[in-house]
Amino acid sequence: MNVKEIFETMEYGPAPEGSAEAHEWLDGYGRKFGHFINGEFTKPGKTFASTNPANGEELAQISQAKKGDIDLAVSAARKAQSDWEALSGYERAKYLYAIARQVQKHSRLFAVLETLDNGKPIRESRDLDIPLVARHFYHHAGWAQQRDRLFPDQSAYGVCGQIIPWNFPLLMLSWKIAPALAAGNTVVLKPAEFTSLTALLFAEICQEIGLPKGVVNIVTGDGDAGEAIVNHPGIDKIAFTGSTGVGKAIRKATAGKGKGLSLELGGKSPFIVFEDADLDSAVEGVVDAIWFNQGQVCCAGSRLLVQEAVEERFIKKLKARMETLRVGDPLDKAIDIGALVAPVQVKRVQDLMKKGEEQGAVRHQPDGAVPSNGCFVKPTLYTNVQPANIIAEEEIFGPVLVAMSFRTPDEAVTLANNSKYGLSASIWTENINLALDIAPRVKSGVVWINSTNNFDAAVGFGGYKESGFGREGGKEGMRAYLRPNWELKLKSLGKSTVPAKPKLFATDGIDRTAKLYVGGKQARPDGGYARSVVNADGKLVGEVGEGNRKDIRNAVEAARGALSWGSKPAHTRSQILYYMGENLDYRRSEFADRLREMTGVSAGAAKKEVELSIERLFAFAGWADKYDGAVHNPPVRQMAVAMVEPIGVIGIAAPDESPLLGAVSLLAPSMAMGNTSVLIPSESAPLAMTDFYQILETSDVPGGVVNIVTGAKDELTKTLAEHDGVDAMFYCGDAEGGKKVEQYSVHNLKQTWTNKGKAMDWTDREICEGEYFLERSTQVKNVWVPYGA
Ligand code: NAI
Repeated sequence: MNVKEIFETMEYGPAPEGSAEAHEWLDGYGRKFGHFINGEFTKPGKTFASTNPANGEELAQISQAKKGDIDLAVSAARKAQSDWEALSGYERAKYLYAIARQVQKHSRLFAVLETLDNGKPIRESRDLDIPLVARHFYHHAGWAQQRDRLFPDQSAYGVCGQIIPWNFPLLMLSWKIAPALAAGNTVVLKPAEFTSLTALLFAEICQEIGLPKGVVNIVTGDGDAGEAIVNHPGIDKIAFTGSTGVGKAIRKATAGKGKGLSLELGGKSPFIVFEDADLDSAVEGVVDAIWFNQGQVCCAGSRLLVQEAVEERFIKKLKARMETLRVGDPLDKAIDIGALVAPVQVKRVQDLMKKGEEQGAVRHQPDGAVPSNGCFVKPTLYTNVQPANIIAEEEIFGPVLVAMSFRTPDEAVTLANNSKYGLSASIWTENINLALDIAPRVKSGVVWINSTNNFDAAVGFGGYKESGFGREGGKEGMRAYLRPNWELKLKSLGKSTVPAKPKLFATDGIDRTAKLYVGGKQARPDGGYARSVVNADGKLVGEVGEGNRKDIRNAVEAARGALSWGSKPAHTRSQILYYMGENLDYRRSEFADRLREMTGVSAGAAKKEVELSIERLFAFAGWADKYDGAVHNPPVRQMAVAMVEPIGVIGIAAPDESPLLGAVSLLAPSMAMGNTSVLIPSESAPLAMTDFYQILETSDVPGGVVNIVTGAKDELTKTLAEHDGVDAMFYCGDAEGGKKVEQYSVHNLKQTWTNKGKAMDWTDREICEGEYFLERSTQVKNVWVPYGA
């Protein structure tokens, strides 16, 4: 080829990054690694191969952790924890800073090793993964130093078990380890079995900087080792990133164990192109959304939604751009798409592609050849895809994009939200008003406007729905590694006192029976039964409807129908909560009498419970327009607007004790933040909340915002916690009941708060009028907005 021809084709020659240093490092360990426990590498045990997916060559043998190894790692972490947390924030900050510096110093070695082990283009590991790792440790050095100032009266969980995937091996390690250490935890981390090498190099850095022994422990192995970490009784919190299937298994395994849990799971994120978008920029956006890291990105923009008027033009431009993507040796600096992580992933991707084609999707791939001896898959675009096609619904985790079209912005939102996942979304339009209208309506934890796949340590990241819960990065991420000191001091509630078996009878014609409250109206229970409410002496004090599964389903439907409550101005919600307080105040003696009658408490105690309930409504009325977001300043020309959003429909199983105050303490923050709810009142003293209907009705609470179903708490809770239309559960009861709620919540991965079988002190203003329940009633969405002409 002569110069003229080269100039015309703009063909690149190969530009390979040298890998000698990485191979030398591997040789230094005899290409056989043990675990890193208590500051030392252990002797390798039973091992498995870690291979280079670009050519199938074995890189090293990695040890498979057995239960004994996990025991050793957990006890080293436990031993180190109290001293680590007792260091000053400044001391911990210095260690995190030292790690950041070492990562920078060894950045080339890290990048090459990552690319060899994972198959991702060196351009990405060098320019994105490793710099972001350093940034994460820098950022968290600051949190370490400010922990006590910014998170007063909170402590570290203790020992954290952290399980990470193979798509961003070192980056996910930093997302896990940096906040955990900043907060004062020690960790046992397991990298994914395909990609352990950079975690082991990281262990070496921990040695180099003299990190106290046992603060970071790294054990290697497959899912069995992961399971052993999850089930280890010595671990206080589990943080997991990976597939939704394993996330659900972990939710189930940890149910009722009282461990902290954060799950960052899969996605099927929409990439929305409006007709007024800068189409050429949007095409580049697609390249970064789905072909970055071979599409093995949990927040990959894998569902392209294009407005009909520009669909043809956009797809044509996209296809032309696909022709120029270079697939090949990931160590080549001019490569766009490297290798998938392992043959099993290639097969998984190809199987899904085949199924999608069987369901009518039309495949487009560029003409160029790809190397035949590694895990390479061509960039792929599917058109003619129905929303119900498997490739439009399932996470493919490969370089495969599905395209669909929409007509109106509303249709774009409906299509975008038509997914069990809710991790991220990318919105392309030149109209900022439209972008900022759509962003809050898309159910996802991150929204990028005219951009995609931006990450920063200061900006929280995490999902809604089956994409998991909890956030990583920023203040939200720090909170996930801390817990309030009062939680540890709570006494056990003991076994819930089962109320005497109530008498059930048909309600026909008996109008004394308090009905259910659904959609703003009193409703007869579906089954037509009522139950007696008796006081401690066995005297009948009233009757309430006996709700059943159907009633819960109706109530959930009503609550879903009222979700626009969340988009009302905070001032309106505040005003309504104040009215509720005022109206309860008018009826204070009536409510106090009722409490006394049902529970046998003294007149003084009943009066105090009502007074505190009024105060609580006032407190959250005041909070409604104050617990709000932030604007972050990531190191790119974008601002990230952290919006505090309601979770959606919250199921509330109120405590048996303090039947009015307990229920109000959970209901008020949830309402203040814009959630709607289905509340199951105290089983033994439900009349406090059936009387509350009048308060709701006289306070302008829109129908469906609060729904109340009385009856057998355990049975009703089961239906509520299993219902996919419920987004979160608050449960107060005995430990067994709390465990069941966590188990029932698995299907749609609803967030749960339970009292963990502990006796809550509902009179405690510090606990019950502060940010604790506001935090549990909200989730943070980060909207990235670019600026600059
Ligand atoms: P995976 O979820 O099985 O692996 C992630 C991590 O979990 C690894 O460290 C693995 O050893 C560990 N693990 C596996 N089973 C476990 C268990 N029962 N208990 C505790 N830990 C366990 O992901 P996999 O099978 O490698 O990939 C399959 C699919 O999962 C991908 O095609 C993709 O769709 C999705 N995935 C999503 C990721 C994300 O970031 N959202 C990351 C990795 C995979």
